[in-house]
Amino acid sequence: MNGETAILGIETSCDETAAAVLTGGDTVLSSVVSSQVDLHARYGGVVPEIASRAHTGLITPVIAQALVEAGRRGPDLSAIAATYGPGLVGSLLVGVSAAKALALTWGVPFIGVNHLEGHLYAGLLEEPDLEFPLIVLLVSGGHTMLVEMQGHGRYRLIGQTVDDAAGEAFDKVARYLDLGYPGGPIIDELATQGDPTSITFPRPMLNDGYDFSFSGLKTAVITYVRSNPDVSAEDVAASFQAAVVDVLLTKAQRAAEEVGATAICLAGGVAANSELRERTLDLALTTGFRAYVPSRSMCTDNAAMIAAAAHWRMQSDGPSKLDLGANPGLRLPFVNA
Ligand code: KG4
Ligand code: ZN
Repeated sequence: MNGETAILGIETSCDETAAAVLTGGDTVLSSVVSSQVDLHARYGGVVPEIASRAHTGLITPVIAQALVEAGRRGPDLSAIAATYGPGLVGSLLVGVSAAKALALTWGVPFIGVNHLEGHLYAGLLEEPDLEFPLIVLLVSGGHTMLVEMQGHGRYRLIGQTVDDAAGEAFDKVARYLDLGYPGGPIIDELATQGDPTSITFPRPMLNDGYDFSFSGLKTAVITYVRSNPDVSAEDVAASFQAAVVDVLLTKAQRAAEEVGATAICLAGGVAANSELRERTLDLALTTGFRAYVPSRSMCTDNAAMIAAAAHWRMQSDGPSKLDLGANPGLRLPFVNA
């Protein structure tokens, strides 16, 4: 594939309506993200029906803006890629249907992309000289995984959460403390004013393999706050966040050592967390690994990462069939699963 390939990426798996144009696999010409967070905040979480209706209204202007900002015409694109899973089925359908309709209208190939594969590509998109094998710590609202990227499209699952995802734990703790939604950024901000050593919360499964468990930690926070109603929210936020980051990074470092990885790379919405970002960079100073921490806007849901994953999928698998449907439970094709 030559450097001139231009892929329109579309992302609508949850509550962001996003479109981006990428050339050559790593040059972002435009990346538009329209967040619905204000629509869902009053309900304390994403309401699927509201999300799909909002996507329906936003998808056309968001795609149009991405094309205009990139200075590209639809018929000149090399492909149109859309997330087809995992995610909310009604939301996924909006992006997949739009992508197929435009692909037919403009006579360009359609590519269905796995949302998680998109997250895995965030680091490589911003830093194309990263070398395999890479350890990617993928931490989002719905997933927490340690993945060995052995090559393009070749992934080995090292560990994953056995219950709540890391982002889910942030959101649930924030909801319990009545802090608002989404909880991750709010706890991140509060934690800057708190003492992370003030409360010793458990580090679940710290020395026990590569899987994670955050449900018990969330319960420990809730139990502590119930017994200590006057505790400062800042100290709770900082101590909870420190426990999550300790577990994530201890396992990521161990995995990188075992695999002989060249680098540890963060991905997913929780990778926007300040403490996780800072301590990942510190890890690079104290170990032999490189650490790559993508920009915050590349960690949270966006369509540039979807177009980047599509660039490599197009090379290995070619275009998708137009009867490919939304698949809310789609999994990554791990070599060991
Ligand atoms: O990847 P993402 O945008 O959507 C999913 O695919 O899930 O991740 C959203 C998750 C939410 O749980 C949100 O609270 C969390 O990422 N998040 C954060 C931060 N920013 C977003 N968690 C901790 N600290 C942050 N700064
Ligand atoms: Zn995501």
